[in-house]
Amino acid sequence: MIVANRLPVDRVTDARGRSTWRRSPGGLVSAIEPVMRAHDGVWIGWPGGTQKFKPFKVDGLDLVPLAMSAEEIEEHYEGFSNGTLWPLYHDVVAKPEFHREWWDTYVRVNRRFAERAAELAAEGATVWVHDYQLQLVPQMLRELRPDLRIGFYLHIPFPPAELFQQLPWRRQILEGLLGADLVGFQLPGAAQNFIRLVRQRVGHKTHRDLVYLPDGRTVRAAAFPISIDAGGFAELAASDAVAERAAAIREALGNPRRIFLGIDRLDYTKGIYARLRAFGELISDGALTVEDAVFVQVAVPSRERVEHYRNLRDDIERLVGRINGDLGRIGRPAVSYLHTSYPREEMAALYRAADIMVVTPYRDGMNLVAKEYVACRTDEDGALVLSEFAGAADELRQAWLVNPYDMNGMKAALLEAYHAEPKELSRRMRAMRKQIAQHDVKAWADSFMTELEDDAAHSHSKTVRPATRS
Ligand code: G6P
Repeated sequence: MIVANRLPVDRVTDARGRSTWRRSPGGLVSAIEPVMRAHDGVWIGWPGGTQKFKPFKVDGLDLVPLAMSAEEIEEHYEGFSNGTLWPLYHDVVAKPEFHREWWDTYVRVNRRFAERAAELAAEGATVWVHDYQLQLVPQMLRELRPDLRIGFYLHIPFPPAELFQQLPWRRQILEGLLGADLVGFQLPGAAQNFIRLVRQRVGHKTHRDLVYLPDGRTVRAAAFPISIDAGGFAELAASDAVAERAAAIREALGNPRRIFLGIDRLDYTKGIYARLRAFGELISDGALTVEDAVFVQVAVPSRERVEHYRNLRDDIERLVGRINGDLGRIGRPAVSYLHTSYPREEMAALYRAADIMVVTPYRDGMNLVAKEYVACRTDEDGALVLSEFAGAADELRQAWLVNPYDMNGMKAALLEAYHAEPKELSRRMRAMRKQIAQHDVKAWADSFMTELEDDAAHSHSKTVRPATRS
């Protein structure tokens, strides 16, 4: 059973006004799908909006929608999840807000998810809970159903103790997560942050990646860096249809020498503003010209009712207007800005058309766009400029790594990538493609599930306690 804030489908309305469900583009569902099919699995999640739906099937997947009221959307989803936890867990890039009513609603919604899971899970089933919106579910579910095997995976960063301890409900969150048998993070540092906090704030004994609870249970916290369907993306990118579309995109942009590309949810953690400024300065400095280079920025609408997000959109759009107004020429804007989301095929065509992919978050759990770009470069060319503060930087070491706070450093990296020789590009891209091919989303899901279901290892760690514990 999967328990996640969102279902893996979106509600879409066709031209004749009929609504249907369409599979979301993310790789998570395709990775988990085979396991779900093999075990009669169900997926519990919020379908978006306030409308109530009965359980239904899409492509043979059993989906159980859990509705939220307008107040719950405001206080659980927009409030505590995206106004408190999201900025707190991303290095307080924006100021987190702490409101007691938001917390109360977060607890209430988490309880409803746990109760629904408890009601539907088979005896001894494995339940995999996802992400920061549902951190209390593991403990609530264990209390209701001690027979279950429970895993939790955090898709975003887990902050250092110095930041996490600002949270008035820090202990409850830690205890919520400790309801799981296995707590997965993107990076080893996040797992270490968690273990340290459990020791300091909850007072449990810990040793390396294990937590010893007073009731004799052991919880493991470890890193499982998430990935993408690398083979699927490569195949799509190599198709004739995508090749044609990529050529049409280049043509439409006036066949510039180099295309820079950014694709992000419109989020203040992504560093969109800084990267566009860096690019604009390269043009105004005369290092690049609008005849030779264009920056395509796709900004996917996101969390539009949250104030920080609305302000960010205004800031970015003002900047794009200024850059184009000051530096563009007729038919040659410096930045081609699109506020929209695209299906996988169009994304693959953009990745294929782009010479330099620019991914500059201030903090990011992983960043799958960086991995998708690499997967789509089947000709082993193209450059990736990647923030050191994206989880993906741990694996994609051959990218041009940048500090997004360092404007001059970022400008230098963009310019180096622009001038890089084909040999240099293919040396770097080949190494990154190898990494992604070996560590795809299937390998990720398999490693988490194997670890979670590994009873032998679990009971072993339960009985054999180390002599020294830190
Ligand atoms: C991040 C989070 C996900 C979330 C997604 C989209 O990737 O880790 O849990 O679903 O952003 O955000 P949204 O608020 O639209 O669900």
